[in-house]
Amino acid sequence: MSTAHHAQPESDGTQIVPREHLDFGLDGDIPKYWMDGDAFKTRFFDAMSTLFPQGEKFFIMSVREFRDQITDPKLQQEVKDFTRQEAQHSMVHNHYNERLKAQGVDIDEISKRLEEDLFGEANRNLTPTQRLAITAALEHLTAMMCTCFFERKDLLSSCDPRIRAVYAWHAIEEVEHKAVAFDVLTKVAKANWFQRNIPMLLITFGFPITVFKIMDHMFVVDGFTRGQRLKMWLKGLWWWYKPGGLFLPTAGYYASYYKPGFHPWKLKEMPSYSTWLEVFEKTKDPIAAGNALHAAGI
Ligand SMILES: [Fe+2]
Ligand SMILES: [Fe+2]
Repeated sequence: MSTAHHAQPESDGTQIVPREHLDFGLDGDIPKYWMDGDAFKTRFFDAMSTLFPQGEKFFIMSVREFRDQITDPKLQQEVKDFTRQEAQHSMVHNHYNERLKAQGVDIDEISKRLEEDLFGEANRNLTPTQRLAITAALEHLTAMMCTCFFERKDLLSSCDPRIRAVYAWHAIEEVEHKAVAFDVLTKVAKANWFQRNIPMLLITFGFPITVFKIMDHMFVVDGFTRGQRLKMWLKGLWWWYKPGGLFLPTAGYYASYYKPGFHPWKLKEMPSYSTWLEVFEKTKDPIAAGNALHAAGI
């Protein structure tokens, strides 16, 4: 039992708090294009939602494979809380995805394919450490999106408050548990720099391609013609990759993962984290907390 790892930065006091029985009002009359009335922007976030239930199941399983080897009681507790948070995310996103299913999106097929990728192929071809490294990489990308997107008031201004509340809550909890998979990977599975970073490189290309495919399926379901879709993609790619767009400002956060000695808590938490927490503690209303988080953004 080495204690040398305790030199690594610990969480800055942020607690992992599983929150259950939240009501987002997802059965209400949420507009189909709930983000700016824009199909591309909406379907980007919708596509990510279709990945969460299977993805989060994979995260939980890949971390729990190392559960018996964890000797640090603090990390043991964090794994439990991480598991409870991810299980709640899956539940809420399953509910969210029912809306998409009613709109004609082939949720069952998306889920089946993902299941085969994550639990069939990944089980056959990857080691437990490689699966955990994929989880840690995806958790970094998730925390990156949460921190970088919610910093931007412009991005989530004209959203339906119910969906925004789902993402705000999800973002808060992703930030709270952002170091758990990483800590198990580095302290328990003892992955070295290559074992940690090669999966990140693969995910960096694989994840967007998966999301793009699902988005395009959604556009077809929505009845857009080939020509319309081409135009949407060109405009959308610019929205993502232009200077000051969705992704370029995240580059520094992203790249920090590759630094030797990186730890997730070396990166700051979401700036408006405490605002969300304060309002949620007071009201227990995730929609009020989501609105407050957004209002506090930059
Ligand atoms: Fe999650
Ligand atoms: Fe997570």
